[in-house]
Amino acid sequence: MEYSNLNLSDDVFKKLKDMIYEISGIFFSDQKKYLLETRLSKRISVLNLSNFEDYYNYLKYSPLKNTEIKELLNSITTNETSFFRDMPQLEVFVDVLKQIIQSSGNNAIKNIRIWSAACSTGEEPYTVGILIKENFSSPASGIKFEIVGTDISEKVLESAKKGIYNGYTLRNASQAILGKYFVKTDDDEYKIKDEIKNMTTFGNVNLIDGNEVKKYGSFDIVLCRNVIIYFDAESKKKTIENIYESLKPGGYLFLGHSESLHSISSLFKLVGLGKTPLYKKE
Ligand SMILES: C[S@@+](CC[C@H](N)C(=O)[O-])C[C@H]1O[C@@H](n2cnc3c(N)ncnc32)[C@H](O)[C@@H]1O
Repeated sequence: MEYSNLNLSDDVFKKLKDMIYEISGIFFSDQKKYLLETRLSKRISVLNLSNFEDYYNYLKYSPLKNTEIKELLNSITTNETSFFRDMPQLEVFVDVLKQIIQSSGNNAIKNIRIWSAACSTGEEPYTVGILIKENFSSPASGIKFEIVGTDISEKVLESAKKGIYNGYTLRNASQAILGKYFVKTDDDEYKIKDEIKNMTTFGNVNLIDGNEVKKYGSFDIVLCRNVIIYFDAESKKKTIENIYESLKPGGYLFLGHSESLHSISSLFKLVGLGKTPLYKKE
């Protein structure tokens, strides 16, 4: 079937966008109807269905609906990311980590946990691992760093676990970093080294689901960058409350540079380190 000719009616668009919103918190405004149409057409073709209404019914009533919901989430999420994304913010991240370590004084924290919430294909948690190795490599410190990367899309998590990259996503990684933390494969790709991989675990977490979030324990720092832009106010609020609950007292939250908690939540204290705003759980 030529799926590019499929037409998504307003009525079915509403049913699909409401379903997607309920499952994931991702909000497709009317302006994004075309985007949804494009992203879902391929699934209709793969399943050999005739139109969007059939696809909606498949998602709702098919015995295979749970499998298809995973495919739906793979198809509708925007997974753009890269290594060392927003370096000024990551410099603040390193300063915050130093502060957390220093402020622990003699009661040295032995285990620092960092959560890359919505980690996409893994560049963010691996960047964190590299920054830790570059800045806190002394084993004498006795501190164990643990990085958790989670996402709602299985497809990106599979790719994150492989840890093989090429091209544009590595544009901010210097030759020195590539040489130190990656192994070049026979296909001229870069595979993240085990010393970074072994610091990181991955899991499927829907950020709007408090019970799923809770399973991962509590963290010193959460990076939730470039994800709440896809949510409406209600899902943003839910996500921020869930993150707040999973931060240790005194822990920090980093959002993407275009995101803020203004008019979303007053749970956190806005603290500024340099030009980068960040949020603290007091
Ligand atoms: C643009 S990427 C951001 C990746 C990375 N944090 C960064 O800033 O480079 C957004 C990610 O959010 C994920 N996402 C969307 N809705 C989600 C939800 N409800 N729970 C968890 N992850 C979600 C998407 O699958 C996608 O991989």
